Amino acid sequence: MNNNIDEITESIAGSGKRFQMLLDAFHEKYTGDPIYAAFAPGRVNLIGEHTDYNDGFVLPVALTRNVCIVLRPREDDTVRLYSAEYNSWTEFKLSELEDERNQAWGNYVRGVAWSIMQQGHKLTGFDGVISGNVPRGSGLSSSAALEVAVAGAFLYGSGINNEFTGPEVAQATQRAENEYVGVNCGIMDQFISVLGAKDHALLIDCRSLEYTLIPMPTDASLVIGNTKASRSLASSAYNERRAQCELGVATLQQKLPNIRALRDVTSAQLAEHRSLLEPLVYQRCHHVITENERVLATVQAMKTGDLARVGELMSQSHQSLRDDYAVSSKELDAMVEVMQNCPGCYGARLTGAGFGGCAVALVTQGQEQVVADAIFNAYPKKTDIWPEVYATQASDGARVWTL
Ligand code: GLA
Repeated sequence: MNNNIDEITESIAGSGKRFQMLLDAFHEKYTGDPIYAAFAPGRVNLIGEHTDYNDGFVLPVALTRNVCIVLRPREDDTVRLYSAEYNSWTEFKLSELEDERNQAWGNYVRGVAWSIMQQGHKLTGFDGVISGNVPRGSGLSSSAALEVAVAGAFLYGSGINNEFTGPEVAQATQRAENEYVGVNCGIMDQFISVLGAKDHALLIDCRSLEYTLIPMPTDASLVIGNTKASRSLASSAYNERRAQCELGVATLQQKLPNIRALRDVTSAQLAEHRSLLEPLVYQRCHHVITENERVLATVQAMKTGDLARVGELMSQSHQSLRDDYAVSSKELDAMVEVMQNCPGCYGARLTGAGFGGCAVALVTQGQEQVVADAIFNAYPKKTDIWPEVYATQASDGARVWTL
């Protein structure tokens, strides 16, 4: 067992070593050299949870962990991609996409190709090798990182990268996940994976897709605690929450005919019309509406360097996700409580969809190992599970290099 945060971060993330491993694997699997390297990061969301599909605000950060593909375009429409982690291949023809919807990670690759071609673009195939170090199934958007890296590979490999803006890449990859893979996610994960920036969080308006870079405080850093608890029922519960929000909007429209989404409703209006809503639907709406307010308040506090206020808002967000939105779990609550009780921690909350996965804490710079030690000491006692802890910095969004 390893509980040194630097070693864990280095051993999994060590990107120079990983890149060399990708090049070696390419040379082993194919003849010739790769032409492009496409990479895309996972994300951690600081605040603004379950607001993206309500046309609201989110404030995520791109991680130092990413998915990377080295590739060489082909003359024909065959795609061959070897996964270094899974030691497995996905191979298909772009002209025969519809027939093969049953492969696990290869499905995301097909979905991205399908989404881009469905918009009328012509793609060419490629030979490639892929590797990722975003923990999977942990609420850190490993699938968005995969989709966005694949989009970079296709767009550059096919010479059509100039035909897409960043938000359009985010929309194309979200559509792949919604309509091809069949997961009804919002736009946040793909958007930050494309448009993240080093040392910044990204305030995204999920209605207009306008975005603003918010500098991260220089005297604080982020620690992520992975509960290592499985996210059972996550997708059905996620869809149920979405439906409850839509029901809330439809009900409130009786009195507020101009609203289109919970984004348009203020806390005061919700309080005024509370009696219209079933108690559970009221709670779901209450989370979303107050969470939007918390995102904007967090941005203000970050601008004035008020880290205590940022931490307080993060902890309030967790409480709201736990009590009103009911997407926490006993492991997430345990992780957040351990983090919040650490010296040097401003605040902590679950991050991502919830139901398991990770929590994020804002901590005084230099206190990362102290927080990690506290987690490794206290979390297993509460849950009987050995966690993982990652330190991260806000990193750049997706890039493609010519090699
Ligand atoms: C998942 C989805 C996102 C978002 C979050 C919750 O990560 O993919 O679109 O809805 O859950 O904030």
